[in-house]
Amino acid sequence: MKRPIVQLVGTGRYTPSKILSNQDLERMVETSDEWIRERTGIRERRISESHETLAYMSKVACEQVLEVAGLTPQDVDAILVGTATPDRLLPAAACDLQAELGAKNAAAFDLGAACSGFLYGLSIAEGLVASGSVQNALVVGAERLSRITDYTDRATCVLFGDGAGATLVQPAVDGDRGILSTYIKSDGTLAELLYRPGGGALCPPSEQLLNDRSYFIKMAGREVFRSAVRSMADACDQALQQAGVSGEQVDVLIPHQANIRIIEATAKHAGIPMDKVYVNVDRFGNTSAASIPIALDECVRAGTIRSGSLVLLVAFGAGFTWASVVVRW
Ligand code: COA
Repeated sequence: MKRPIVQLVGTGRYTPSKILSNQDLERMVETSDEWIRERTGIRERRISESHETLAYMSKVACEQVLEVAGLTPQDVDAILVGTATPDRLLPAAACDLQAELGAKNAAAFDLGAACSGFLYGLSIAEGLVASGSVQNALVVGAERLSRITDYTDRATCVLFGDGAGATLVQPAVDGDRGILSTYIKSDGTLAELLYRPGGGALCPPSEQLLNDRSYFIKMAGREVFRSAVRSMADACDQALQQAGVSGEQVDVLIPHQANIRIIEATAKHAGIPMDKVYVNVDRFGNTSAASIPIALDECVRAGTIRSGSLVLLVAFGAGFTWASVVVRW
């Protein structure tokens, strides 16, 4: 087994308290609680209020991480934020977070890898720390998907929610504990199966854009589903192989929380029984880049993940992007 170069220290999360239930959605679009639960496993999702900005939610999650790590914001050398919903298109969400956190010694930048953003962040942070230029890197996954969700489109509005999660990457100090492998991959030819057509430089804000609702997420659900199952299987295989471990050795699998059927297919492929798979998609829906760090924090605080646990993290998202990380906690 590979010796880790970096370790993860501390976790944190923020989830808004406002709940949007399946019953609420029944009153908004032609859908049913039964359909949503059967097809997705989702019962409810959290929706941010206006004061719960991306920077605010991320700051709360990062403060929890720093408390566990015994560090101050000034100790942070780098802030990497995986997000598709920055508070502003310019500057990066990571810079707004840096200002809110008071992490004045850090470099700050965003990662545009959609739902895989947090795992892309871990992979990049591992490289930064391994190079010796960074000692403490905060890696954040944060989203306000409710802001780009079309609540007249039943095919997408039942899926998404808001939240933030974070961890800290540091040089490994303790033998075999830390990141054992990372794997990142993408296929840009499939971008238009899950995307936001308008609002960027190609199609800037206009009356037309508002009329055709093209600033919202558009998705070809069935095709995305098939690619997600295939890509997450590939990601599991790659990360496990590179780490030199098998699915049976994994103590906890945290897959991206998009859909219970995708989660079950991923676990089955990796040979990991469902009692070792962490699921919170029923409570939070798909929070994109935030889904894995929120789940990670829940697992660590509940003691499901403890010192020495072998953890497999695997994600898939728009791009398409997919990624995986094996970590000895
Ligand atoms: N409520 C009720 N019916 C709905 C519905 C809803 N919220 N959304 C779609 N339907 C209808 C469709 O209109 C379609 O009706 P039709 O047969 O009369 O045309 C029917 O349900 C089946 O639609 P389909 O899209 O084939 O369903 P599905 O079994 O593929 O489930 C998803 C839809 C979105 C749940 C599923 O495709 C999915 O989870 N895809 C992946 C999405 C994802 O995870 N995206 C993020 C990746 S990070």
